[in-house]
Amino acid sequence: ATGTEPHPPRGGVRTGTRAAIAAPHLRTDRWWLTPAATAAGLLAFVVYSTWRAFANTDYYAAPYVSPFYSPCLAENCAPMRGGPNWEVFGAWWGLSPALLILIFPLGFRLTCYYYRKAYYRGFWASPPACAVAEPHAKYTGETRFPLVLQNVHRYFFYAALLVAGILTYDTVLAFRDETYAWGHMGLGTLVFLVNIVLIWAYTLSCHSCRHIVGGRLRHFSRHPVRYRMWGLVSRLNGRHALLAWASLVSVALADFYVYLLATGAFDDPRLF
Ligand code: FES
Repeated sequence: ATGTEPHPPRGGVRTGTRAAIAAPHLRTDRWWLTPAATAAGLLAFVVYSTWRAFANTDYYAAPYVSPFYSPCLAENCAPMRGGPNWEVFGAWWGLSPALLILIFPLGFRLTCYYYRKAYYRGFWASPPACAVAEPHAKYTGETRFPLVLQNVHRYFFYAALLVAGILTYDTVLAFRDETYAWGHMGLGTLVFLVNIVLIWAYTLSCHSCRHIVGGRLRHFSRHPVRYRMWGLVSRLNGRHALLAWASLVSVALADFYVYLLATGAFDDPRLF
């Protein structure tokens, strides 16, 4: 966006500049299926992650720490040997330590271009699908408060890089066994490995990342390294929606795996 685009017409899709079609839409396929499935999937994640974030228990089973609780920044964190447990917040913090850090990955996903499309369609029907008119009388896009705040996405990207770095550290620590001896691998290590690959792929496929890497250049020919990196990021970017879902599922599964171990419902099988 250059900032010089005309504002979208007010009055929704029923303005004089649009085709006068009486039918609500002319689509005959099951167009509602995608927004309905999207809304159901996102809702399931919101319910699950809210439960786990507020639970404040069963998030550490040596050597694994749940990605919802890492880094653990409060004094009331479960003791983790060698883990990312930094007591920045003292005893006065009595709530779940997950609440201190989830704002960053949550903010990143909430303002993500793909998720915006997904929840605007799934929850707000704005619009429900391509070529299906939205029911709202007014449309101001993201030009007004509060949606104009979606622009902070580019800053959340930097926070997401930090979070991905910390989860990488956790994945390295997952190459220990429950006695903290190095050089071991459990099923949990594999779960963490898959998760961190998907988290990095999603983070680097971000539209803001693509712009940081290859944007604001006059001549790609004078910046061959950035051009190459931009090509790689662009390839990932083409799969951004898929990576958004895959990493959402993998992060919830990694958390659930730690929950199963911590509650004693399951024993981590050793691979070597
Ligand atoms: Fe989706 Fe940046 S656009 S994470």
